[in-house]
Amino acid sequence: MRIQTFEQYQEAYNQSVEDPEGFWAEIAQQFTWRKPWKKVLNWNFNEGVTKWFEGGELNITENALDRHLAERGEQSAIIWEPNDPDERSVEISYRVLHDRVCRFANVLKKHGVQKGDRVCIYLPMVPELAVAVLACARIGAIHSVVFGGFSAKSIADRINDAQCGMVITSDGAFRGPKVIPMKETVDDALEQCNSVKNVIVMARTRTPVSMLKGRDLWWEEEVKHVDSICPAEPMNAEDPLFILYTSGSTGKPKGVVHTCGGYMVYATYTFTNVFQYEPGEVHFCTADIGWITGHSYIVYGPLCSGATSLIFEGVPTFPDASRYWKIVEKHKVNILYTAPTAIRSLMGYGLHFVKDHDLSSLTKLGSVGEPINQEAWHWFKINIGRNICPLVDTWWQTETGGIMIAPLAGITPEKPSFATLPLPGVQPVLVDENGNVLEGNGVSGNLCIKFPWPGIIRTIYGDQLRNKQTYFSTYEGMYFTGDGCLRDEDGYYRITGRVDDVLNVSGHRIGTAEVENAINMHLGVVESAIVGYPHDIKGQGIYAFIITDQKPEDPEMFRKGIAATVSRIIGPIAKPDKIQFVSGLPKTRSGKIMRRILRKISEGQFDSLGDTSTLLDPAVVEEIKEGAL
Ligand code: WT7
Repeated sequence: MRIQTFEQYQEAYNQSVEDPEGFWAEIAQQFTWRKPWKKVLNWNFNEGVTKWFEGGELNITENALDRHLAERGEQSAIIWEPNDPDERSVEISYRVLHDRVCRFANVLKKHGVQKGDRVCIYLPMVPELAVAVLACARIGAIHSVVFGGFSAKSIADRINDAQCGMVITSDGAFRGPKVIPMKETVDDALEQCNSVKNVIVMARTRTPVSMLKGRDLWWEEEVKHVDSICPAEPMNAEDPLFILYTSGSTGKPKGVVHTCGGYMVYATYTFTNVFQYEPGEVHFCTADIGWITGHSYIVYGPLCSGATSLIFEGVPTFPDASRYWKIVEKHKVNILYTAPTAIRSLMGYGLHFVKDHDLSSLTKLGSVGEPINQEAWHWFKINIGRNICPLVDTWWQTETGGIMIAPLAGITPEKPSFATLPLPGVQPVLVDENGNVLEGNGVSGNLCIKFPWPGIIRTIYGDQLRNKQTYFSTYEGMYFTGDGCLRDEDGYYRITGRVDDVLNVSGHRIGTAEVENAINMHLGVVESAIVGYPHDIKGQGIYAFIITDQKPEDPEMFRKGIAATVSRIIGPIAKPDKIQFVSGLPKTRSGKIMRRILRKISEGQFDSLGDTSTLLDPAVVEEIKEGAL
C-alpha cells in the first residue's frame, strides 16, 4: 500500500486517474472484508451521490483491532498521556484494547443500542473516548462525537438533529490547570432533548455529579457485568459509520456522514502514505478526537495500520510550553502531527522550552487545519525536525474524510507553505467565479475536486438536499471545497483560505452566521456582523461589529457579557476577540451586509475599501473607520 519513491507516486497518480476503480479496488483488497463488493464505484455529482464498494461487507473494528491480534497483539495500540505530567501514563495493547472495546460494545447492546442507532459521545481525551468510538463501530451504531469544548446548547442541537438515544460522557475533564464540568453540561443539554434513554458516565475527575435513576449509568460499574466477547456486526460498505458536525456559511451546523468501507480505505491509505508510516512507529496527533483530524489520524487511520497512537489529554502550554517536547522525549514519538496555531503559540514562548529535550526520535512532522505561514513552517522544520525530518502540510476537510493534498513525507519535494501535490485518487480543479476551469499552472481560483475519492462526504444527516446544494451545486458536476487556492508554476498547490463566510480560528471552523445568531441573542443587541482578521497566533481572530439599542454605558462590561453569551450558545472557541459598537453596518440597497468592507477595516486597510457608492448609507463606513479597534 505504501508508495516509496517519487516515480512510484507519479505512476500511482496516473493509474488513479486512468483507472480509479482498479486503483482503489487493489488498495481495498488489502483490508479484511466479510463479503467482497459487487461494484467499486457508483457516482453522480449532479445529485451529490457517491457510493464505494457497494455490496461489500466489513466491520472497521476487525480491521482496526482483530486482524492485528495474531501479529501484534502485545504491541501498544494506544499510549495515553494524562493532562497532569505527574499522573501515570497508560499503554494499551491491541489485545487489551480489543477486550475493552468488546466489553463496552456489550454494555451498549445491553442497554438497547442497535445497529443504525445514533450515540452521542462527549468525553475528554481519555482512552475511553477511543473505546466508545470503536464500541459503537463494533455493533454498527453511528457515533456522533461532540468536541468537549462545546456548550450545552450545541450538544442539544446535535443530539436532537441525529435523535441520539444514548450519550457517553464523563463527570468532568482536566484541561491544563482547570477542572471542567462535563456531566453537568450534558444534564443541561438533556433538558432540551427527549430522544436520550441513557447516559453512561466515566469517572475522570471524581467531581460529584447528579445521577438520575433509570437514566444514568456509571461506566466502571457497567463494564464489570458484561462478557468480553462481542462478534463484530457485519456492515454494508455504505452503512453510516459516523456523523461529525461542522460549520458552514449558514446558521445550522451540518452533520457530515461518513460510511464504513470508503472511509476506512481512505483514512488508512492516506495515513500510511502521507506519513510514510513504518511498523513500530509512535504517532502523536495533537488534535482532539472531537474533530475529523482525531477521527482519521488518532483513531481509525493509525489503528487500521497497526500503529501506536498517542492520545494526549492536556494542552501544549501546561504545566509549561515544553509539554509537547517532553511527551516526544518520554514516549519516543516518531511522527508529530499538529496545527499551525500550536506551532505559532509555542514559537512565541521561545526556544529555551525546546532545548534540553531529546527530539531525536522524530522522523516525520505534519501540519493541518489552516494555512501554515513560512515562519512557522521553518521554525517547526528546523527547531523540532532538526532540519532533517520531512514536514508535510496536509490540506483536507471534515467532508473529505482524509488528507487530499499533501507531500508524501520524504518523497515529494517540499515547498514551505505549500500543501504541494494531490494524493493519488484526488483530482483538483481550479475554477474562476463564473465556473470556468483554469487550465495550466500559475493560476488562482476556487478549489474543486472533479472526481470522487473513497473518503468523500456521503450526505448531510437527514438532509441530502443540503448536501447537494452546499457542495455540488456551486460548480456543475464538481465538489466545491469552499477554499481559494493557487497552483504555482511548478503545479504545486497552496491553499489561501476560505472564500465563503466561514472563519478558521486556531484551526477551528466557525460559521459567521452561527456567531452572529449567538451575539444577536444578547440583551440590547440589535444586529451584528462578524469577520475574520489576521491574528498572529490564531491565524484568524473574530472581529464583531455590533449595533446596540442604546449606547452602552459600560462598554467593557457589555463586551464581556456578549462573550459570555457566545460561550453559552456555542462554546468558548467562538468568542469574539474584538467588539466594536457601531450605529450601522455597510449594506447594499438590497440589505446585504458588505463583509468585504468590514474585512478591510478589520485589517486596518482603510485605503483599499473599493467601491462604496452602491451602499445604502456610505457615511456609516466613515464612522466605522474612525472607531476601528
Ligand atoms: C478547512 C477544513 C481536516 C483538517 C482539519 C480542519 C482549512 C485545513 C489546511 C491546510 C490550509 C487548511 C481549509 C479547509 N485547512 N487544512 N493544510 N492549509 N488550509 O477540518 O474543520 O473541516 O476545516 O480548514 O480552509 O476548508 P475542518
